[in-house]
Amino acid sequence: MKKEKIIVTGGAGYIGAHTAVELLQSDYEVVIVDNLVNSSKSVLSGIAEITGKQPAFEELDLTHAGKTNPFFHKHRDAKAVIHFAALKAVGESTRLPILYYKNNIGSLLNVMEAMKEEQIPHFIFSSSATVYGQPESLPVTELAPVQPASSPYGSTKQMAEVIIRDTVKTGNQPASAISLRYFNPIGAHPSALIGELPSGVPNNLMPFITQTAAGVRKELKVFGRDYQTSDGTAIRDYIHVTDLARAHVIALERLLKGKNQAAYEVFNLGTGKGFSVLEVIHSFEKSTGVKLNYSFTDRRRGDVESLYASTELANKELGWKAECTLDEMTLSAWNWEKKLRNLQ
Ligand code: NAD
Ligand code: WQD
Repeated sequence: MKKEKIIVTGGAGYIGAHTAVELLQSDYEVVIVDNLVNSSKSVLSGIAEITGKQPAFEELDLTHAGKTNPFFHKHRDAKAVIHFAALKAVGESTRLPILYYKNNIGSLLNVMEAMKEEQIPHFIFSSSATVYGQPESLPVTELAPVQPASSPYGSTKQMAEVIIRDTVKTGNQPASAISLRYFNPIGAHPSALIGELPSGVPNNLMPFITQTAAGVRKELKVFGRDYQTSDGTAIRDYIHVTDLARAHVIALERLLKGKNQAAYEVFNLGTGKGFSVLEVIHSFEKSTGVKLNYSFTDRRRGDVESLYASTELANKELGWKAECTLDEMTLSAWNWEKKLRNLQ
């Protein structure tokens, strides 16, 4: 039997598509809305092939209130919105701050206003570990203070969290919301039918590794080898995108069943384990058997030394725990890259 209708904004994107798969496999009715600014319609066939179900899809720009409102009116029977839609390139956001504020904040305001108008009760938001900057102690808990953002992209996540908290407080719809602070999502669906599709030169480590291994890039540059870490390279909490996607379904069910402890809640989504850049490279080489061409260069501006999550709250309150190992993450990312490039 079909469960509630859920609107997934940005559902053609990397994390949204994996979440749409988990929702469909849990029998939710899924409506994806995306303007395809950083994704492609072909993702929808990947989702359909994995699940055997076709999600509804509408192509529209959520910064356009005149188009967003009729969309929400049409889907006013939805019980929740999972809001992935955003621009996410940190470097680009420093060059084009207005674009980032307009897109990420403008779309959020339109979506929340439409939810109030159509009385849609539950909201889940894609936040980021970037809100923590370099925390004073690790693993970082949800109670750690939010640090001044190092980019306009980071600011949009901090502002969005405040906007959602204040909106939920009014007592109007959406009546309850959860912000999920993702650490470093990597990997792809085990079917290799959906995965990350970076446009142009990737900013993030994992797609840069897989593109280098595939021969699309000549060499991976490791940013900094003079950090105060065991091997001198920076440490992050890499989480498999399928583990992350699963957490959204659990968070959704928490809201649908009214199991939330407060109208607005925040959870870290990571594995709780930190890995250095060199450890990721070694995992990639080990799990795939492919040797990677890399060299060291200066630190990247704005990078923190070490960041990994305390997952205690998500474990306890959501009953969720990331399950995949780093080797599984790097191997699935490679299988997806190979499929994309028609490599054996
Ligand atoms: P993505 O770019 O693959 O997906 C975002 C989707 O939103 C894209 O399909 C894009 O076309 C769509 N979109 C953007 N602006 C839109 C608009 N105005 N109207 C309609 N659709 C629009 O990114 P992702 O990696 O899947 O990230 C999803 C969310 O998670 C984003 O909010 C991102 O900021 C957040 N996040 C991502 C990471 C990460 O490392 N990937 C980490 C932390 C948080
Ligand atoms: C990981 C590590 C780099 C590329 C970013 C955003 C964050 C969140 C996740 C959205 C770092 C090193 C990278 C390369 C390298 N996104 N690296 N060579 O910077 O932790 O987080 O994505 O919310 O907001 O800032 O991820 O994958 O870019 O980098 O050495 O070519 O890999 O220095 O230590 P980051 P990343």
